[in-house]
Amino acid sequence: MKKLVVLSGAGMSAESGISTFRDTGGLWEKYPIEDVATPDGFFKNPDLVLRFYNDRRKQLMSVKPNKGHELVAELEKDFDVTVITQNVDNLHERAGSKHIIHLHGELTKACSSRNPNDSRYIKELIPEEYEIKVGDKAGDGSQLRPYIVWFGEAVPRIETAVQFVKQADILVIIGTSLNVYPAAGLLNYAPDHAEIYLIDPHEVQVSSSKTIEVIRKGASEGMAELLARFRK
Ligand code: OAD
Repeated sequence: MKKLVVLSGAGMSAESGISTFRDTGGLWEKYPIEDVATPDGFFKNPDLVLRFYNDRRKQLMSVKPNKGHELVAELEKDFDVTVITQNVDNLHERAGSKHIIHLHGELTKACSSRNPNDSRYIKELIPEEYEIKVGDKAGDGSQLRPYIVWFGEAVPRIETAVQFVKQADILVIIGTSLNVYPAAGLLNYAPDHAEIYLIDPHEVQVSSSKTIEVIRKGASEGMAELLARFRK
């Protein structure tokens, strides 16, 4: 079976009703990155940051995977698939994808604020725990925080992601503006023989000399077109 890697971003979940970050009306227009997505922002106003992620976590219960997520899961019938996602939602899982690398963390998990990557203190939250409050403690006694990779923090799963991209026969990039590194640099690890597709309804600036087949469509329609091409 050929190895296929999907690299997804916020646009993957847009048709499920989750806002992207950098499009007009995107999340970073309403909530400055420095306030809600940096360790410094959390230090200055933990309550605001916890509320921001509590709201997004609770939103997960009212949204569902879209056709695009479902078609990504369907790729597993024909390929050995790894999904590398920058998204912190759980929509790829819920659509049935089996092998998912979350580069930027997961909304449904919480961790220690002293050592966010200490696996002993990373826990899956049940819906009754979706509201993290100031004073809630992680297993090491520090303030419990969302298991999210903030700007300025290391991206622990990037090395694993690189290894999968290096082995890919096909790389499919969906719904990411490729603004945020190291995720945006992953495509440069694709081997020379790999076919690279990019699905996005808008133009994406790609800083790579690789040949990329662009499908200028939303995630659902774009994935349908890709599957039709594969099955020809
Ligand atoms: P962006 O908001 O930067 O980019 C979203 C991309 O999705 C854009 O290229 C849009 O054109 C595209 N898009 C919009 N609607 C779409 C649709 N229906 N189907 C497919 N694509 C669509 O989001 P990301 O690139 O994911 O990190 O942002 C990367 C990281 O920056 C995020 O993981 C987050 C953010 O800050 C952290 O929070 C650490």
